[in-house]
Amino acid sequence: MKSAELREKYLKFFVERGHKIIPSVSLVPNEDPSVLFTTAGMQPLIPYFIDLEHQAGRRLVNYQKVLRTVDIGEVGDDTHLTFFEMLGNWSLGDYWKDDSIRWSYEFLTDKKWLGLSKEKLAVSVYEGDSEVPKDEEAADIWKSLGIPQERVAYLGREDNWWGPPGITGPCGPDTEIFYWTGKSEPPARFDPKDRKWVEIWNNVFIQFNQGMDGTLKPLKQNNVDTGMGFERIVMILQDKESIFETDLFESIMSKIQSISQNQDDKPKRIVADHLRAATFLIADGVVPSNKDRGYILRRLIRRAVTYGRKLGIDHEFTTEVAAVVIENYQNVYPELAHSNKILEELNKEEIKFRQTLARGLKILESRKQITGAEAFDLFQTYGFPFELIKELAEVEQSEEFEEQFKKHQELSRTASAGQFKGGLASHSKKVIRLHTATHLLNQALREVLGNHVWQKGSNITEERTRFDFTHDKKMSDAEKQEVERRVNQWIGNDLRVKKETMPLEDARELGAIGVFGEKYADEVSVYTIFNPENDDVISREFCGGPHVAHTAEIGKFKIAKEEAVSAGVRRIKAVVEP
Ligand code: SER
Repeated sequence: MKSAELREKYLKFFVERGHKIIPSVSLVPNEDPSVLFTTAGMQPLIPYFIDLEHQAGRRLVNYQKVLRTVDIGEVGDDTHLTFFEMLGNWSLGDYWKDDSIRWSYEFLTDKKWLGLSKEKLAVSVYEGDSEVPKDEEAADIWKSLGIPQERVAYLGREDNWWGPPGITGPCGPDTEIFYWTGKSEPPARFDPKDRKWVEIWNNVFIQFNQGMDGTLKPLKQNNVDTGMGFERIVMILQDKESIFETDLFESIMSKIQSISQNQDDKPKRIVADHLRAATFLIADGVVPSNKDRGYILRRLIRRAVTYGRKLGIDHEFTTEVAAVVIENYQNVYPELAHSNKILEELNKEEIKFRQTLARGLKILESRKQITGAEAFDLFQTYGFPFELIKELAEVEQSEEFEEQFKKHQELSRTASAGQFKGGLASHSKKVIRLHTATHLLNQALREVLGNHVWQKGSNITEERTRFDFTHDKKMSDAEKQEVERRVNQWIGNDLRVKKETMPLEDARELGAIGVFGEKYADEVSVYTIFNPENDDVISREFCGGPHVAHTAEIGKFKIAKEEAVSAGVRRIKAVVEP
């Protein structure tokens, strides 16, 4: 089965079972500065697991691109990737374990769908602990479907628990589905440590909200969040031993092969994975830099160039590979159609890195051995990948390097952990109310102060919204009161909030404003706040949401502070009270 057909079949199966298709979101989480990347299909759905109503209903399905850097060290083996696609289906307080497990089983094994061998399936379920009981319910459902006891493993938090993606938020025990990929017959007993049992699908029973202190509070509703590793299932369906041999990678790998000087497979796989990831990241608006997302992108490109070097590729090649990625995927992910921008950014970074390489190589070549501190300097100042330094020079006092390197990693980890604080999980009702209030504030400011007001930035926590905008003098008390009055009047009128996705051009034509993050996406989300009685539009902004459905949910709006940020930019902090 071709990979394209699998995407279609999956959607069809769940649509037939009452699911609505939702689009794959950007790899850069919209309007959420607290996480670096979209790492799972469930991420944009977090508020809906808690208490928000999803416009598409309670049963959702999609394919979603995701990026995870945790496995970067394993990329090059048969099954690990940084960028990959997930097939996901969700129940937002609707169906529960029974339907979820039965449907997964039916989709995988029924001849009408994937028709995989039942004899090659195994599952794991949650073994239980002092807080959450052993998941006998899931185990019994599996057994009732014919999975024998010895193919059911009971595992703990490390393995059979999913989420929250940040520090706090929705999470729960899961049941994972494995498929035997060995050439021999599968052993009767399932051993989760045997790598020939490949995990293909994860059904998470999201029923808890994890607090800052790690405690679990039951959610109001039981949710299901499933995610199937697309490349892995394609590998199985196409009877290949590695994901890099599937139709998803075939032309990418043969491109790399055609410019390589050697037959070594692993570096080719790393180049393929990293450049595929980089292509998608740039398409979603990330550019190489030394910080956060840009830094990850830079690392991916630089590692790809380094491994290209190992393959004996000495010309600029990243765009050649990216062009094949674009060709392969642009029908499914139209954001890739902006290929000039993607190729330009890649090439710029490759050229920059090649210059760095040349400089660093000079330093390295003049010396046989370098000290740990010098090695670290090469890593930090020149962005030399660690692997390359080790390969090129014997590093003296390598503990010193390792130590510095560890410290550096520690720092980066804390920095990114900091990013999660108050993150996704705080897409709580409070944050959502403030989100919509911020749109109304934007509009009121434009009406009261004038159309020179443009949003320069915003940041929302549980406590307040902070809104920066262009305006060059202090607001008078009367102006502040008038802004508050308008916002509160709109809240009182119980306006409706509607989300639509549309081509960027249409959104512009409709006069949507706001900070537009997905620079290269064709389809954008637009939130319109309007009066349902006469269809008057009060506000229309580009935004990833989420928002309340009725403005009456917001509460009373109050400006807490108005101050200068820089020349020509003012800042308002505002709160809402029930
Ligand atoms: N969130 C779960 C995962 O990423 C299931 O979709 O594995």
